Amino acid sequence: MEYNKQNMPKHIAIIMDGNRRWAKAKGKPASFGHKEGAKTLEKIVRYANKIGLEYITVYAFSTENWKRAEEEVNTIMVLLQNYLDDYSKRADSENIKVRIIGDRTALSKGMQKSMENCMERTKNNTGVNFNIAINYGGRDELVKATKSIAEKVKEGKLQIQDIDEDLISNNLYTANQPDPDLIVRTSGELRLSGFLTWQSVYSELLFIDKYWPDFTEEDLDYSIIEYQKRKRKFGAN
Ligand code: FPP
Repeated sequence: MEYNKQNMPKHIAIIMDGNRRWAKAKGKPASFGHKEGAKTLEKIVRYANKIGLEYITVYAFSTENWKRAEEEVNTIMVLLQNYLDDYSKRADSENIKVRIIGDRTALSKGMQKSMENCMERTKNNTGVNFNIAINYGGRDELVKATKSIAEKVKEGKLQIQDIDEDLISNNLYTANQPDPDLIVRTSGELRLSGFLTWQSVYSELLFIDKYWPDFTEEDLDYSIIEYQKRKRKFGAN
């Protein structure tokens, strides 16, 4: 089945869930699942770029994921850093524009450097906008936006009556980006877990009963077809 090229979602966000269960089912360690998950992500982003999707945002590491075993956290961080360094190297051959969303201050200096370098190297690319959420939490993002707005009010740079939805949107990590039209979560879990809390209010949700490493290009096509069947009302009739 083919999706309709005229009614494409502009922005798809993905919660890449199920890496560990995928690995466990194969009798392998969690790290094996994350490595495969990273490969799947690379393939899906390349495909998203090929089909002309404008924005893709993925949840790579949440503010809650620090509670995992240190070894697993380290594995994910090393994977992420290598992943960003690879994109930096391929910045000219793959037309993908990388942005990191989340609180970078808690991450290692090396990781922060890789993030900045990757964003800098890919900033003039004109293909898909690829947002990677790292140390991201939707409530945390809103707390930070609130503090930053309060600070401006305190300094007299902003009046309370200036605070509106656009102002809040523009104080989030995703400032100037469209809200996700569709959020896909793999692995059969039915929740958003603080992913794009503010931005997701009118997103269509799709839950796919497959672990993330098994997600394919056809699954992305299927997600777009499912999205195109939805009637979006944004609160109207
Ligand atoms: C969810 O599966 C996945 C994560 C918490 C991390 C996502 C990480 C990757 C896809 C690999 C690294 C990412 C990049 C960008 C290189 P889970 O661990 O919660 O699995 P489970 O639900 O089966 O326990």
